[in-house]
Amino acid sequence: MPRLVAAGLLLASLLRGSPAATWCGKNYMATDPVVPPGGQFPVPDTSSSSLLAFRCAPIIKPYLPEDASSPAGFLIDAPVTFSQVVGAAPIALPAHGFAGALDVTLKISGKTIARGPVAVNATKVEIPFSLKSLQPQATQFNVECTATYGSQTFTANTTLSYLPDPPDGRSVTKMDLRTGALLAKPATGKGGAYETVFPVGFYTNFAGYIASNLSLIDEIASQGFTVIHPIPTFDNLTALADVVQRMEEVGIYLMYDMRWTYMNNTAVTEEVNRIKNSPALLLWYTGDEPDGTSDPLNATSTAYDLIYSLDGYHPVSLVLNCQDYYWTEYTAGTDIVMQDTYPVGINATWSVEWNTPCTPDYGDCGCDNCAGSFEDISTRMDEFAQRRFADGWELSKAVWTVPQGFGASEYWSRVPTGKEFVVQSVLAINHGALGVVSWDAPTTDDVTASASVLAKSLATMKEFILSPQATFAHVVSDRVDVGLWTVGARTLVLATNLNYEAKVFDMRSVKGLAAKTLLGTKQVLDSGAEVQGHIISLESVGTGGFVVG
Ligand SMILES: *[C@@H]1O[C@H](CO)[C@@H](O)[C@H](O)[C@H]1NC(C)=O
Ligand SMILES: *[C@@H]1O[C@H](CO)[C@@H](O)[C@H](O)[C@H]1NC(C)=O
Ligand SMILES: *[C@@H]1O[C@H](CO)[C@@H](O)[C@H](O)[C@H]1NC(C)=O
Ligand SMILES: *[C@@H]1O[C@H](CO)[C@@H](O)[C@H](O)[C@H]1NC(C)=O
Ligand SMILES: *[C@@H]1O[C@H](CO)[C@@H](O)[C@H](O)[C@H]1NC(C)=O
Ligand SMILES: *[C@@H]1O[C@H](CO)[C@@H](O)[C@H](O)[C@H]1NC(C)=O
Ligand SMILES: *[C@@H]1O[C@H](CO)[C@@H](O)[C@H](O)[C@H]1NC(C)=O
Repeated sequence: MPRLVAAGLLLASLLRGSPAATWCGKNYMATDPVVPPGGQFPVPDTSSSSLLAFRCAPIIKPYLPEDASSPAGFLIDAPVTFSQVVGAAPIALPAHGFAGALDVTLKISGKTIARGPVAVNATKVEIPFSLKSLQPQATQFNVECTATYGSQTFTANTTLSYLPDPPDGRSVTKMDLRTGALLAKPATGKGGAYETVFPVGFYTNFAGYIASNLSLIDEIASQGFTVIHPIPTFDNLTALADVVQRMEEVGIYLMYDMRWTYMNNTAVTEEVNRIKNSPALLLWYTGDEPDGTSDPLNATSTAYDLIYSLDGYHPVSLVLNCQDYYWTEYTAGTDIVMQDTYPVGINATWSVEWNTPCTPDYGDCGCDNCAGSFEDISTRMDEFAQRRFADGWELSKAVWTVPQGFGASEYWSRVPTGKEFVVQSVLAINHGALGVVSWDAPTTDDVTASASVLAKSLATMKEFILSPQATFAHVVSDRVDVGLWTVGARTLVLATNLNYEAKVFDMRSVKGLAAKTLLGTKQVLDSGAEVQGHIISLESVGTGGFVVG
């Protein structure tokens, strides 16, 4: 969210006579000195010889008794790297030619439960195992993963969640760690199979909005959105219950926000117990920009552990606002880390709110260490992905995006247009985002209409983006950012033009695509783009999604 509330906290801290006000660890008031914020993610040291970054994780989190009769499995990553990332250990490879395979063994309490070969430098290799040898339990199983390569041995650990059937028929949201996608049954609670969910929606005003007109929830669902993230506080519990019930009736998922309470164990306990049995519940949300406000570094992990002890059947999310401030500490306490880079309508170098410069050490321009271009979003997504790998979390945590749906206030001189909204969203998806939840609704009709077009297209596009079988390719040409997901014979081409002028993208520039276009191209997203033969034509800040083959 933007800083309105932070300003309130600032006032409170000034009244208490506290020292300098900070955001992302930086002083931002003209009267305060420049002090380096610290908390930067350490750039991993490089290694002159090859290292193996051996990692393991279960395919599905959590498994349930219902999964015992179908194949279960673990995922193994074994990339060769020259970067001293977490857990990387030296590996002596043959000087020439084929590097061969690791012999990987997974053990629980010393007993081997799975074993298989994994090629050196392969990622997301699946090793099957059977849940039948285990009894479900509320606590996680510790799993020891070992890889041998000739006389060399590598180890890594993971946890396996194999839970008892949920009490009271509670709904379950699983994560498919092959992709990071969420799997859930319909929000109505009236049965149905697990399906991938591409969460798309808005942080949505509660009091005075959905709480006072439940028909808005029907309208939001009919616009194709899959999730509503009501903005607390939820003072009126009757109204909250009515909203949740209406969400169940129309079948739209709930992202439940505890931003004001997540550091209060009593409040979290009450809230989780109040909401956990709703079939609409998709996931929990704790810290809202905890890195901006400098909440205690262990606060997100503390809340995470508490939520898991009370529920355990739904993942946890939070949003980070800073480009680089104690990323590891805050991200340790979440399954899904969102980034809310808001670059539209800002002055990236001069704070219009505080009349100071913005630098890596000082100031607040509304978008931390940004340039004021769409690339701020893709750069942030890429940085989160790099840190996730460096911390050994690439198999266990997903990244989502918070597109800017607001403006004409504080640091942001204007609201993005609908097309700019889609550019922000698709750019992040092309850089790995598996959820799009914008700040905030209600917004302009233009943004709402464009977001609805995007949401409806995602019902089709998720079959590619969230498919474990998809192979992904990515091309950037003349500031046209193109993601390509191939499943079987078909490819989803998702192209977004970051320029404020028309551009074309020639699909013949992507290996293998030209032949597929001959078999036909179907447009699945139109936000100012069209295709003729091999050529995608994009309007100024236009975006198009096409299935070819
Ligand atoms: C490992 O795989 C990466 C990407 O898949 C590739 O760029 C790199 O050359 C490979 N390294 C080795 C040592 O095979
Ligand atoms: C994995 O867990 C075992 C047993 O708890 C421990 O001895 C070992 O050090 C751990 N290995 C890694 C790489 O964390
Ligand atoms: C409630 O929301 C619906 C859907 O947007 C709208 O048609 C209706 O006019 C609203 N009712 C009131 C009283 O504002
Ligand atoms: C709480 O919400 C309910 C349902 O919308 C409403 O009937 C009631 O008047 C509200 N109570 C207060 C104190 O606002
Ligand atoms: C924590 O939450 C409880 C329950 O809502 C509330 O009574 C208490 O005042 C809260 N404590 C603080 C310090 O806000
Ligand atoms: C978290 O940090 C606070 C201080 O910032 C400390 O008082 C508390 O004990 C810590 N909690 C845990 C569980 O480490
Ligand atoms: C940012 O503000 C500075 C100082 O007012 C001004 O010189 C500069 O042109 C502004 N930049 C943008 C992109 O608005």
